[in-house]
Amino acid sequence: MNALTNPGSKTLQFDLTARKSILTIAGQKAEVLTYNNSFPGPLLEAQEGDQVMVRFHNQLQVPSNLHLHGIFMSPEDDKPHEVVAPGTTLTYAFEAQAGSAGMYWYHPHAHGSVTRQLFEGLSGPMIIRGPLDRIEPLASATEKVLVLHDIQIENGKVAPHEGMDWGRGKEGNLVLVNGESRPTLPIPTGLLRLRIVNASAARYYKLGVPGKKLQVIGLDGSFLEQPVSVDTLLLSPGERADILLEATEASTLSLLNLPYKRTPMGPSQDTPVEGALLATFEVQGDTNTVHLPEKLLEIPELNLATATDHKTLTFGATMQPLQFTINNKVFDHHRTDLSARADTLEVWDIVNPMGMDHPFHLHTFPFQLISLNGEPAPFRAWKDVVNVPANSTVRIAIPFRKYTGKVMYHCHILEHEDVGMMGNLEVL
Ligand code: C2O
Ligand code: CU
Ligand code: CU
Repeated sequence: MNALTNPGSKTLQFDLTARKSILTIAGQKAEVLTYNNSFPGPLLEAQEGDQVMVRFHNQLQVPSNLHLHGIFMSPEDDKPHEVVAPGTTLTYAFEAQAGSAGMYWYHPHAHGSVTRQLFEGLSGPMIIRGPLDRIEPLASATEKVLVLHDIQIENGKVAPHEGMDWGRGKEGNLVLVNGESRPTLPIPTGLLRLRIVNASAARYYKLGVPGKKLQVIGLDGSFLEQPVSVDTLLLSPGERADILLEATEASTLSLLNLPYKRTPMGPSQDTPVEGALLATFEVQGDTNTVHLPEKLLEIPELNLATATDHKTLTFGATMQPLQFTINNKVFDHHRTDLSARADTLEVWDIVNPMGMDHPFHLHTFPFQLISLNGEPAPFRAWKDVVNVPANSTVRIAIPFRKYTGKVMYHCHILEHEDVGMMGNLEVL
């Protein structure tokens, strides 16, 4: 089989141009921000082993930049602090490393303007493929990439953020899947593989398909050890999921966004419309038998007894001005908040004493969820975003391997990030 003999070793070059475009979105003409005139931006695909170059051209009137979210690359190459002036180009380069097959995405990261640039349309998906993708049963699964990105259009423009939007995190009234409202996708009977990115600034999605189990085979930028069968899966902003559905016979499958309250103390409009439809799959063809993969990626159990440091990060906020904090500090680009040593393991407690959820994201270094409020994680997974529910503590373990340098950690509700909920970690 051809694909098997194609371990990546190519040099790939992608060009992404950010600009203002007029697109028709859910039947309305609107001025939005796009990569290559497309909302969401184009799918970037690489194989493990490939050298990847992404040339980012900023054709906006304002500074921007590009962050390749979740990619295991050196902090120097990630360079989220570096801003790309209007009319200029910056190249981001990395090697798609062995073991990094998974779902990624890209978005702007210019502090203070991330929320608006993303909310107005700037995000796109990226996939790295590896050996597991080239063998059965995944090799012949029907794959659909679904980028979930909400938006709100008023008078031909993207609706502005107002006062409390910066506190709650603004949810657009148009919930779009690949830029479309409630698309219908025809698929053949067999194994359906959904690769879903929550590319929304603030909206959460609790995914479910009535009548079907979701067989989760990957989260964020990694496979799991074996499929995990669930009825629903919560995706907070920045998180990705790789899900198999056994679409064995002709039928109609509905991907729903089920109610979830991310601000249990907050206003009720935060709850998504009950059972809101995201997309419909029209399964066509003869009845087909399918097999789930049995063994996926081996994920090492981390020996917490060897951890060299135990850190606590506590979320908070101030009013007037409205700012969000980590360990009582508002983000400062010039300050190093935490440090760690290369080639060590650390355990972090992320403490959220607030009445709203916050998705915690760390650049460069994947981590494992150890426990939520003392309850052990149900299965092992490499993650780069973890939701920290209201009034909860999440414990994660992070092996600092391979790279040194300064990396960022932040809340992935982008409003919170822009108003201070971010810090710098230096790995020495
Ligand atoms: Cu997806 Cu620092 O970001
Ligand atoms: Cu990131
Ligand atoms: Cu937050």
